[in-house]
Amino acid sequence: MVTVPETISHDVVVIGSGLAGLRAVTEISRLGKGKIDVGLVSKVQLSRSHSVCAQGGTAAVLQTDNGDSFDLHAWDTVKGADFLADQDAVERFVKLAPQEILLLEHWGLPWARTEDGRVNQRPFGGHSYPRACFAADKTGFFEMAVMFDTLQRYEGITQYDEWFVTSIQRNNGFFTGVTAIEMKTGDFKVINAKAGILATGGAGRLYDFTTNSHSCTGDGMAIAYRGGVPLKDMEFVQFHPTGLVPSGILISEGARGEGGHLLNRDGERFMEKYAPEKMELAPRDITSRSVIREIQDGRGFEGPRGLHYVQLDLTHLGADTINVRLPLIREVCIKFAGVDPIEDPIPIRPTAHYTMGGIHTDIDGFTGLKGLWAAGETTSISIHGANRLGTNSTAECLVWGRIVGEHAAQHIMRGGVASKPDREGAASEEKRIYDTILGRETGEDLYPIGNELRALMDSKVGIFRTGKDIGDAAERIGELKERFSRVVVEDKSRTYNTDLTGALELENLLDIAQVTVLAANRRRESRGSHSRLDYPKRDDEKWLKHILVHYDPKKPKMSYSKVVITRWKPEERRY
Ligand code: FUM
Repeated sequence: MVTVPETISHDVVVIGSGLAGLRAVTEISRLGKGKIDVGLVSKVQLSRSHSVCAQGGTAAVLQTDNGDSFDLHAWDTVKGADFLADQDAVERFVKLAPQEILLLEHWGLPWARTEDGRVNQRPFGGHSYPRACFAADKTGFFEMAVMFDTLQRYEGITQYDEWFVTSIQRNNGFFTGVTAIEMKTGDFKVINAKAGILATGGAGRLYDFTTNSHSCTGDGMAIAYRGGVPLKDMEFVQFHPTGLVPSGILISEGARGEGGHLLNRDGERFMEKYAPEKMELAPRDITSRSVIREIQDGRGFEGPRGLHYVQLDLTHLGADTINVRLPLIREVCIKFAGVDPIEDPIPIRPTAHYTMGGIHTDIDGFTGLKGLWAAGETTSISIHGANRLGTNSTAECLVWGRIVGEHAAQHIMRGGVASKPDREGAASEEKRIYDTILGRETGEDLYPIGNELRALMDSKVGIFRTGKDIGDAAERIGELKERFSRVVVEDKSRTYNTDLTGALELENLLDIAQVTVLAANRRRESRGSHSRLDYPKRDDEKWLKHILVHYDPKKPKMSYSKVVITRWKPEERRY
């Protein structure tokens, strides 16, 4: 006899309340005129989703009188991606992005303005023209606020803040819903739905030195993976060139877009050697490697805990520009590094920032499991390929939030075919969490495993990689997973048991780490952010393809998919 956990039902369940999730819900509500019943589930309060941390802007072509065009935005994105982006998706992306900027404008977003009243745009790395629409350096915060306000117009949305989703449920090839822990009570719930959208963000917390919030543990990727949807391009992890030392907090590329300089200890603008045309506004993979090269060659400054750094100098921009355009950067530098960028250069080094890979979907964000879509950083659609351009990410969240919202809404309006929920599946998930994980009395301490994982990823699976290091990391991750199988959650209580959800997050990170190193080991070339010292060249003949990793409880399996090339043949990247 199976005990069935408490069950809730909605037409659509959206997991993740960041930019992509909220944009999906607005689209479902708009098309369904509030009659589609949506459950919006998030492990954090909505206003704490990591999207609020997006700083520098959102990319779109708004002006063409300056020579910019959709084609040029697409070309920059494809070249930035080191030709691993699917070009059909990129072409769709650049055409839809401006519509999203306009929509947010109509919803009340206070975009920065030019003197003549148009939406202002700042330059960003790898873009040929200024395309980053911004609201000071708090763009994500304003986008989230506007989106949340807009949601208030619609009926039919139930918010589940601080609910931790533990699995996707499927039956007969259909998505049937999710299981979740209501963190406040510790109760286990099943949310049945005819359609689902995963929009849970990235997995930057695989690393210790990162811009990502503590919540960025790749949960959506991990539950999709274990639920039978492959992960794609996971070897590509973006390191943002300018993480504040010693914390890793993001110092927006907007600071370089406004004219900031990168200096080594000899006071040289060293990017001249690495990207003479673009200088500080080269794409992130190239700029991050350049910073590390300078440090390795002894032209950096000594930092705490081995965090050697170079400087980002904004002093020549003047107090007015810094206070108006970069107020958050100034505040963060003062509070977290004791440096006022009006007076002194900022200590920075590359920091883990973005997961280019993610849940494998088609161009519509469809996962292949009937009724399940995904959008935002949690996916690999793929428009970013091997290296994302700054500001294409918030734009992607908006564009594909809309697209998947539209598909889920249409699915429901067509009658929302679904399969019966798998009651045994949900019950066994409850047992796994409460009996096996929470019930275990002796075994491994949770926290050292997480600390060791992050230190391992920092040291072995960073900007420069070798087969030896990746192999070592694979072995160590196997050991950490083995230790995790004996993990003990010390706190046995139910109310806000963050010890338990922390264990589930770590389980997710361990799966993602395993997939990342498998793919990184397999890809024997250097492309975009994946820079292998033992295979220093890009090899289009062998590796112009995506790597997919499929879950198998015994051993993950790998397959490949083609890169869609519509118009732009791979060529050497020069900046
Ligand atoms: O540098 C930044 O403001 C980050 C932007 C992005 O990752 O797109």
